[in-house]
Amino acid sequence: MMVRKNEMLGIITVAIVCLFLIGLSQKEPSNYHNRPLRYKQFLDLDDSLKSTNITAIIPSIQQVVVQQKKLLAHELSDYRFPKGESIEDYTLASGGRPIRTVIFTTWRSGSTFLGDVLNAVPGNYYHYEPLLEYGIVQIRGAPHAESALYTLKSLLSCDYTNLYSYLQYGMSHVYLFTHNTRLWNQCEMYPQYCWNSTFLNEFCKLFPFQSMKTVRMRLWLAEDLLKDDDLNVRVVLLVRDPRGTLQSRRHRDWCPGQPDCDHPNNLCADMVSDYSAAIQLKRRYPDRFRVIRYEDLSLNPHDHIRSLFDFLGMYLHQDVINFLDSHTKINIGGVSSTFRDSKSAPFHWKTDLNYTEVQYIEEHCEEAMKLWGYVRSKNSSSLKDLNPLISYEIQ
Ligand SMILES: *[C@@H]1O[C@H](CO)[C@@H](O)[C@H](O)[C@H]1NC(C)=O
Ligand SMILES: *[C@@H]1O[C@H](CO)[C@@H](O)[C@H](O)[C@H]1NC(C)=O
Ligand SMILES: *[C@@H]1O[C@H](CO)[C@@H](O)[C@H](O)[C@H]1NC(C)=O
Ligand SMILES: *[C@@H]1O[C@H](CO)[C@@H](O)[C@H](O)[C@H]1NC(C)=O
Repeated sequence: MMVRKNEMLGIITVAIVCLFLIGLSQKEPSNYHNRPLRYKQFLDLDDSLKSTNITAIIPSIQQVVVQQKKLLAHELSDYRFPKGESIEDYTLASGGRPIRTVIFTTWRSGSTFLGDVLNAVPGNYYHYEPLLEYGIVQIRGAPHAESALYTLKSLLSCDYTNLYSYLQYGMSHVYLFTHNTRLWNQCEMYPQYCWNSTFLNEFCKLFPFQSMKTVRMRLWLAEDLLKDDDLNVRVVLLVRDPRGTLQSRRHRDWCPGQPDCDHPNNLCADMVSDYSAAIQLKRRYPDRFRVIRYEDLSLNPHDHIRSLFDFLGMYLHQDVINFLDSHTKINIGGVSSTFRDSKSAPFHWKTDLNYTEVQYIEEHCEEAMKLWGYVRSKNSSSLKDLNPLISYEIQ
């Protein structure tokens, strides 16, 4: 009898513990319901919640735009606009004119870094590589130049209305938008608006700074943008040593076998043609066109960025300086990146290419290297100590 009683108590205890555990496990989903709703979580919720009115919970395009406007006011609260001016003078939404910057370069020439420096500016909207849909080709004229320029100009005017194929491509290749961090934050919350041209037109027009980079269009076509006084674009040509560019491209799986990407003579013919275009643009638009060599920028990032911001007429905000500090190597003795340091990205080609490969590129790139101030190597043993840079002139 006594034994039975103990057994009974045991069973009751186990039952109580079980009930307690069931109670605990049911607490979790009810907590889950109380968490703030974001669209992605919404998709995971159970059926009882799905039957509630979605349109009542998801803000309208207009509400998202108003929300972003507030975010921008906050982000720009310590940005110094020129005396007497404010954000309204710079946004299309308020009839102002944005500061527009376009980087022209080619694949693997350091444009990710420079693009991200400009995107570190508070209130920047980044049109990252708008010509992705053209594939691994260089646009040098017909047949693509006209449609490509139309895309660039529409984006710089925040007019997505006719960019059907651009948006279609972006839906399946989201990295078209992910670099545009301020847009992408909203895309993650409201994916149903992300590729909607009505939304993008309104959203884009809120931003006082509009930056763009393209690796697929050759420089002489930039004149079409520069001669448009309403756009008032600044154009920056970013140039890199072809030995560094080609070395870096070898490590990308999309490049080998694509003639515009892996043939030194195509790259270097483009560099020669960019040089002639640079002379013309410098003469016609001295205040709106400039060149930067990736190696110079890497050796002395702070000075070059300060000078670039002067040229752009933009205030060098602390966020940009913080970005530079966290993305460039600084020793106690100064910047550690030198032409002898093979770990530094711009000069990594010296150890990654064998001497036969270096010579092959130099043979096909003689003129381009001479024009842009890149020095040929003498022999394999002196390569390590070669300073590949001399000055260049655009006259
Ligand atoms: C859902 O909410 C929206 C906005 O509040 C309202 O206009 C609409 O009539 C509602 N629909 C239903 C089915 O309740
Ligand atoms: C954009 O979204 C709005 C509101 O949801 C909708 O009325 C409109 O048809 C959409 N536009 C496009 C191009 O999908
Ligand atoms: C250099 O590299 C190429 C291919 O990358 C290879 O075919 C060649 O044998 C190498 N040359 C030497 C001297 O190592
Ligand atoms: C390589 O070039 C350097 C610099 O021009 C020279 O001093 C050296 O003698 C050369 N070495 C050989 C093996 O030719």
